[in-house]
Amino acid sequence: MLERAGGGLPSFADGTDNKSGGAMFTRRHWLSASAVLAAAPQALPAGGKPIVISSANGLRACARAMEMIRSGADTLDAVVAGVNIVEEDPEDDSVGYGGLPNEEGVVELDSCVMHGPTRRAGSVASIRGVKTPSKVAKLVMEQTDHIMLVGEGAGRFAKAYGFKEENLLTEKSRLAWLVWKRSLRDASGHNNWIGGPGALKPAARLKQMFPEASDELLAYAWERAVNPPTGTINCLALNAKGEMSGVTTTSGLAWKIPGRVGDSPIIGAGLYVDQDVGAAGSTGRGEENIRIAGGHTIVENMRHGMSPREACLDAVKRVARNYDNDRARLAKFDISFYALGRDGQYGSAALWSGTAKNGQVRPRQFAVNDGGKSRLENCAYLYERKG
Ligand code: GLY
Repeated sequence: MLERAGGGLPSFADGTDNKSGGAMFTRRHWLSASAVLAAAPQALPAGGKPIVISSANGLRACARAMEMIRSGADTLDAVVAGVNIVEEDPEDDSVGYGGLPNEEGVVELDSCVMHGPTRRAGSVASIRGVKTPSKVAKLVMEQTDHIMLVGEGAGRFAKAYGFKEENLLTEKSRLAWLVWKRSLRDASGHNNWIGGPGALKPAARLKQMFPEASDELLAYAWERAVNPPTGTINCLALNAKGEMSGVTTTSGLAWKIPGRVGDSPIIGAGLYVDQDVGAAGSTGRGEENIRIAGGHTIVENMRHGMSPREACLDAVKRVARNYDNDRARLAKFDISFYALGRDGQYGSAALWSGTAKNGQVRPRQFAVNDGGKSRLENCAYLYERKG
């Protein structure tokens, strides 16, 4: 578990606590507070139904966020606490601890947050050694007048706030990385490892290389080596007062070139929240999302009258258009968008209807919690994936 020295958020000289929706604290911050007040929405609808949505890996995140919102927590505190569950879960290999590393075997994380009521944002990219980058992104928002910190600077900032440097590789992700490394070949089919291709099928070859690992673990590692994932979690929330916030957090593309940054920490791509309109975010191949500024595009679509679902489908169509709608090239990746309107409508759309495995297609889904148990709903999609 990640621990922060001192525990809790810092207090300030004037005795105020540092809460996401709270007042600003320093003289410099008082200045930005006036700007915030000037931009604040007129009146929020009271008595609306709180709702939290996320990517499909966020069932527990939505439940935690909803529980906090119902007990009066700020929407950003709620969604960050929600995704912290996934960031700290070693079994989710696309987010936080246990996330698949870069090509050098180092886990680099990206995250951003947006707080609707105060219209503030914070972000970290390529941060190493911290399990919960979403907490660091929130601190960037709360404690600095910057928006984004990257790499070493982001790490030093986290340390200054008491985050301990930790090894984010699990035995599972380390094995997957080694399998990927050992699967690489030059044009003649050679690589530097003992136990080359030979006559053995991949499974038998892997067993020879890693005799201690279970067949299940090796099958997982091989799948990840040949199909590098771009998982991620995006989580968006609306409370009964109409206040909205969002967070996106990821370990990014597996086996990436060190320093590669995807869409997740990019305000306007991996996440966008406009307190007057709604919120949107994305998971999947970040490069495609950055090229269409997906989060912002979807919120603008909703501002101009589209439902969240239509707005997400439009974003997906923009991604496809960048490939001249060529399904053969588009089949090499997937991307999903999620949107929540300030009126409580929500929706999601993916490029492909689902993921194919052993002739079966598992539908693309997203998580929803509107007060009861979290559930999965199917995403709208542009193209049907055939088994
Ligand atoms: N959407 C996550 C990434 O591409 O890094």
